[in-house]
Amino acid sequence: MSESRVTIDGAALRHNLQRVRQCRPAAPILAMVKAEAYGHGAVAVAGILAAAGVDALGVAHLDEALALRAAGLRLPITLLEGLVGHEALDQVAEQRLHLVVHQAQQLHALLQWPGALARVWIKVNTGMNRLGFRPQEVAAVAQALHQRGGIAEIGLLTHLACADEAQDPQTDQQLQSFAECRRAVALEHASFANSALILTRPGPGHDWVRPGLMLYGASPLAERSAQELDLRPVMRLTSRVIAVQTLRAGDAVGYGATWRAARDGRIAIVGIGYGDGYPRTATAAPVALRGRRYRLAGRVSMDMLAIDVACDEVAVGDEVELWGGQIAVDTVAACAGTLSYELLCRLTQRALRHYE
Ligand SMILES: Cc1ncc(COP(=O)(O)O)c(C=O)c1O
Repeated sequence: MSESRVTIDGAALRHNLQRVRQCRPAAPILAMVKAEAYGHGAVAVAGILAAAGVDALGVAHLDEALALRAAGLRLPITLLEGLVGHEALDQVAEQRLHLVVHQAQQLHALLQWPGALARVWIKVNTGMNRLGFRPQEVAAVAQALHQRGGIAEIGLLTHLACADEAQDPQTDQQLQSFAECRRAVALEHASFANSALILTRPGPGHDWVRPGLMLYGASPLAERSAQELDLRPVMRLTSRVIAVQTLRAGDAVGYGATWRAARDGRIAIVGIGYGDGYPRTATAAPVALRGRRYRLAGRVSMDMLAIDVACDEVAVGDEVELWGGQIAVDTVAACAGTLSYELLCRLTQRALRHYE
C-alpha cells in the first residue's frame, strides 16, 4: 500500500473563501473546482464551498459538471469552455448548467438549438488570445442571443493573462477593453477577476469573482507568499520513511548518481515519487520531518525519494511532509521550475485522500 497521503483541511478552505469575501465583499463568487478542484477532490471541495455559501462553481468540461450533479451538488455550475459540439446542449439544459460561449460555432449551435438556458456568459478576448470573441464582435453576439430568446440571463466575462505580475501593464489594458465592451452591451452580469486580481485589487465591486488558486491556499502572485497573503494551505501531502541508509563521505545516491555525500551521515528514503505526482524535476526541494527541514538528495524516482538527514535521529515509519503547513507548495514548485497550480493538479490517485 502507498504510504503517501493527501489531507484536505476544510477549515483552511473556508478561511481562504473568507479572504475572497474580505477582498471583494459585494461580489458573488464563482469558485473554480475544475481539474478535481485543483487536485483537492471536486465533489468534497464543492460540498464544503456550497455549505459555506459560494454562489456558483466553475469547471472546464461537461463531465466535470455532470459528476458534481451526480454527487448531488445543486449550485449553478458554469462550463468555462462551453461545448465543442451542440449534441450536449439538451444535457446542459436538463442539468441547469451555465454555458460560456467563446467562438462562432458555439454561438451558431446555440442559436439553432430550440431549448432554454438559465445563463449564458459571453467570453470576450481582451488580450489573452486563447478564448473569446473580439471586443468589436461582442455587441452582435449579445444581440443575437437576446433576439433568440430563451436565455434567462446573459453575462460578459474575460480572463486576464498577467494579473500575477502586479505591475504588468497588460492587466490595465485588458480591464479597459473589458470596460468598453460592457458599456457597449450592458448585460446583467460581468466577471473578470481571478485570484491574483482579487488579492491585488480589492474593492467594493459587484462583479462576479472567479477565485481558484487562492481558495486552495497557494499564492497566485510571483512576489508574495501565501503566508503574506494570509492564505492557508488546504492540502497537506505526506508520506513515510521506508528505509534509512548509512553513507560514507563520497557515496552516491539514486539514479544517475547525481548526488554524493559530502560527509558521513544518513539518508532517509521516503515512499513517494513521481508515480504519485511529486515532481521529478524538484532539485534540493525542502521537506519536513520531526519538525525539522531537510532537502532532497539526488533524483526523485517513481516510488521514492531520498532526503539528507545528516546525523539526525530518524526512523522507518516517520511521517514526512512534502508540502502543507510547514513546506509551502509554492516553494516546492519553485524548486521544480513550475507553479503550484501544476503540482496540486497532477497528483495521481495513488495517494489516499483524507478530508478533515
Ligand atoms: C476562466 C478562468 N477563470 C478563473 C480562473 C481561476 O484562476 P486562479 O486559479 O488564478 O484564481 C481560471 C483558472 O485557470 C480560469 O481559467
